[in-house]
Amino acid sequence: MIPGDFQIKKPTGKQIALFTGLGLGGLVTAVVVVVLLTWVISAWFGTPVILSSDEGPEQPIAFPHTTHVQDLGLDCTFCHREVTKSAQATIPPVNLCMTCHQAVLGSTETAQAEIKKLRDAFDDGDPVAWVRVHRVPDHVHFVHETHIRVLSARDGIEATAVCSTCHGDVGSMAKVKQVRTLKMSDCVDCHRDNAAPTDCTTCHY
Ligand code: HEC
Ligand code: HEC
Ligand code: HEC
Ligand code: HEC
Ligand code: HEC
Repeated sequence: MIPGDFQIKKPTGKQIALFTGLGLGGLVTAVVVVVLLTWVISAWFGTPVILSSDEGPEQPIAFPHTTHVQDLGLDCTFCHREVTKSAQATIPPVNLCMTCHQAVLGSTETAQAEIKKLRDAFDDGDPVAWVRVHRVPDHVHFVHETHIRVLSARDGIEATAVCSTCHGDVGSMAKVKQVRTLKMSDCVDCHRDNAAPTDCTTCHY
């Protein structure tokens, strides 16, 4: 081969396939990275662009707070029994529902169908797999008991009346949804306003 007689080699079929593959792979990776970044950044600023909806999630049994709170006048603490005693409010077990639903079978067809799901779960001894609506990350420490005790004393109101501060008017929700960001800035702002501790170790271990 004399100098200057350089020729570009034609790529083989195998090489074309390889580079096409790498190109597509790179494109897919780029898209995934952009989507993940959007999600992380939106979560950071407390305005989720993805995963937001006007209604709360679909639950395995269409349990309406409206019927039980507005119509029957039950207190929040009647079902969320641990809320004044411990960190978790807790969702009531099927047994508690059955104290009424042994006898209450529902007046409409849809109500009957949903109550039947509840009674079947009771007969089978299965817990209901409720979809969680509110959740702080694992590195965050949140205790219901303290908040209920201090805020009800501050305003001279019953425990049940405190819930709406953070959860909105749950009694009017057919499907529970989150109404307050409960992000770090939200927690810290309220702590500052109430002379509650704001050092990092209050909420992070
Ligand atoms: C008859 C029992 C009952 C009563 C009374 C009741 N709840 Fe509930 N609550 C439930 C059940 C069951 C769920 C789980 C299903 C769901 O999310 O709808 C739930 C879910 C919730 C959730 C969402 C939990 C999560 O996953 O983040 C909140 C918040 C809540 N209730 C607040 C309240 C408040 C505030 C009141 C009073 C105004 C109240 N509840 C009264 C039974 C009850
Ligand atoms: C204090 C009694 C009481 C308790 C406790 C209770 N319910 Fe009910 N529930 C009722 C009554 C009354 C109705 C209205 C039934 C009707 O007339 O259709 C009802 C209705 C319902 C319905 C039908 C939907 C609708 O539109 O009303 C579902 C589903 C239901 N309850 C689930 C539950 C679950 C799940 C629990 C436990 C977390 C529970 N209930 C606890 C009394 C109770
Ligand atoms: C200061 C704000 C605040 C108040 C007041 C408050 N909550 Fe909550 N709630 C939260 C936060 C934050 C979470 C998520 C906690 C977690 O992930 O551990 C939560 C979660 C829940 C849950 C689902 C998880 C669990 O703990 O079982 C229920 C049910 C609930 N709250 C009910 C209530 C009820 C009922 C009241 C009133 C008696 C109430 N909350 C008052 C902030 C609050
Ligand atoms: C509506 C106002 C308000 C909001 C919102 C709020 N807090 Fe608080 N928090 C308080 C008050 C008031 C206290 C009690 C301070 C005291 O002991 O006097 C407190 C106490 C605490 C404590 C100490 C309790 C203990 O028993 O160790 C922790 C931890 C805490 N909050 C975490 C959080 C987290 C995490 C969030 C957000 C998810 C949050 N708080 C949102 C008002 C609020
Ligand atoms: C009153 C409660 C509270 C205090 C005080 C607090 N944090 Fe947080 N922090 C939270 C909550 C709630 C979250 C979760 C936010 C979310 O859901 O994205 C969080 C998240 C974080 C994260 C993770 C960020 C993310 O988006 O996941 C870091 C890092 C952090 N906090 C650092 C700190 C430092 C440093 C301090 C002290 C200067 C501090 N926090 C004080 C409540 C608190």
